[in-house]
Amino acid sequence: AQDPLVIFTPSGKRGRVPAGTPVLSAARQLGVDLDSVCGGRGICSKCQITPSYGDFPKHGVTVREDALTEWNAVEARYDRVRGLKKGRRLGCQATIQADVVIDVPPESQVHRQVVRKEATVRDIVMDAATRLYYVEVAEPDMHEPSGDFERLAAALEEQWNIKDIQADLTLLAKLQKALRKGDWKVTVAVFADHHGGPSRITEIWPGLHEGGLFGLAIDLGSTTIAAHLCDLDTGAVIASAGVMNPQIRFGEDLMSRVSYVMMNPGGEVEMTAAVREALNTLATEIAGEGKIDPALIVETVIVCNPVMHHLLLGLDPVELGQAPFALTSSSSLTLPSRELELHAINPRAQTYILPCIAGHVGADCAAVALSEEPEKSKDLVLIVDVGTNAELLLGNTERVLACSSPTGPAFEGAQISSGQRAAPGAIERIRIDPVTKEPRFRVIGCDLWSDEDGFDAATAQTGISGICGSGIIEAVAEMRMAGLLDASGLIGSAAQTGTERCFAEGRTHSYLIHDATAEGGPRITVTVGDIRAIQLAKAALYAGARLLMDEMGAETVDRVVLAGAFGAHISPKHAMVLGMIPDVPLDKVVTAGNAAGTGARIALCNRAARARIETQVREITKVETAIAPRFQEHFVAASAIPHASDPFPNLAT
Ligand code: FES
Repeated sequence: AQDPLVIFTPSGKRGRVPAGTPVLSAARQLGVDLDSVCGGRGICSKCQITPSYGDFPKHGVTVREDALTEWNAVEARYDRVRGLKKGRRLGCQATIQADVVIDVPPESQVHRQVVRKEATVRDIVMDAATRLYYVEVAEPDMHEPSGDFERLAAALEEQWNIKDIQADLTLLAKLQKALRKGDWKVTVAVFADHHGGPSRITEIWPGLHEGGLFGLAIDLGSTTIAAHLCDLDTGAVIASAGVMNPQIRFGEDLMSRVSYVMMNPGGEVEMTAAVREALNTLATEIAGEGKIDPALIVETVIVCNPVMHHLLLGLDPVELGQAPFALTSSSSLTLPSRELELHAINPRAQTYILPCIAGHVGADCAAVALSEEPEKSKDLVLIVDVGTNAELLLGNTERVLACSSPTGPAFEGAQISSGQRAAPGAIERIRIDPVTKEPRFRVIGCDLWSDEDGFDAATAQTGISGICGSGIIEAVAEMRMAGLLDASGLIGSAAQTGTERCFAEGRTHSYLIHDATAEGGPRITVTVGDIRAIQLAKAALYAGARLLMDEMGAETVDRVVLAGAFGAHISPKHAMVLGMIPDVPLDKVVTAGNAAGTGARIALCNRAARARIETQVREITKVETAIAPRFQEHFVAASAIPHASDPFPNLAT
């Protein structure tokens, strides 16, 4: 008789195996992705599968009830102690007797896809650099004088085919106790980098370790530091947290931090210490929030701009402040986290820092590219990551270009007279009636518009304190649409605009949005100075985009992706009315959330993604805005609202 036929779903992989083959072995033979930490010893339960019975005309088989062996003692015990879901079997225990169809549920796949929670999160295929292995180690013997580590290494090679394993002194110091406590059975966390270098043992536990492994994906920005705590087995985000970058006290923006180093030799040492301390605080906080032991954090991935990159690594950033903007090193880095003094996490944790693209275009932009994949786009896509510096990527399957543009902090509400960071109490949305010129607005922390019932009560707790970045963009765009503002950025007088809300301030006029003085709050106005700051920022952004389009030989783009925490809050229509982004149909402008953070998560969960981005950054053409003569020309023309000469046909519709 023929050997039984086994068909795995959802992969569709099939083949014949001798009767009596365990499902786990059949999966391995046929290249089916079925997980195992204990190597088939019936204790980790990672190998769970679901057999199906009955007729399967699609597959041309009939599966009998006895296609797999009955529960054995190991499965029965597992079910008694831990409980097996109905219909589930342990793949390492059940053996194949006859033709069978076997489903591998997502949680039993090593390379499972991470479920998308939000539309903006890319599918991530799990393939973490650190994995758990359960091993049985030979006991020492008077006649065989090898060390415990050598016997552990031999067991890893024999049972898991892991060769040339390495471990540092702090791990060796724990080794003997763990082996004896676990009665020569231990779980080790092994880090294997994406270049095939020697694997390292990060941690060891007696017996089977069931507490999981975690990693941090960190987006180290000049203003804020945001992190996701991810489960390295499932890819799930367990907790997210953010802190302010403490380097702000040395300078609000990057160039002022570089100047701080120029004026205060050795200043980079202080800034490095400050940011590393903040990372430790963040790690402790996020582990607390995720209710995990921080020592279970065995990997971090960090993305940041070039100046933050140098200041984190303890490198002098002065060269980044002047042409030709040479980086100390642009390559990716894999290094022990303790070299960055990340003491709050596992002492043997590894850190991966994405490669920088150029002296002005950092690992954060590389992370955006990893997340948004412009190189796979058939149409020409412009990706804009808006922050204190804007990073821009323009490309399609043929070519990808990148540049950064110094937008300054106006888009984040800084340098705006009534500006503030996006926090409760900040006006984030504004509409101005084109006839009455009266504003209505929405405040962060309250879902109601200012003219809706219940608005006052709902905002009473926070009060209205200012206007944030997305609010000021909408305010300026709405003022332009309501005829309160001309293309050059001047606000009309009360007589010209027909509203008393436009009032004289010195030789220019301002527009009153809300007077909260009665409640002890501020008068929230938009001044000509505010408009000027927004014009400078948006002109820098647009000029950067145009420079990339020139280089690409493109008059228009097909699609715009707004990335960054702030990008998520910009209204596409208002961004275009302002002339922040080139003209495209409005439905072709999408927001991508924190794409740099998503890129960091992808690199954390998938080793191959690290290799991919390292190759890709070499293929991205860098365009330097600071020395391009046309940048200035584009900048001047883009100062008008929306633009002095470029047409915006999609605004007419
Ligand atoms: Fe660990 Fe089956 S492989 S229980």
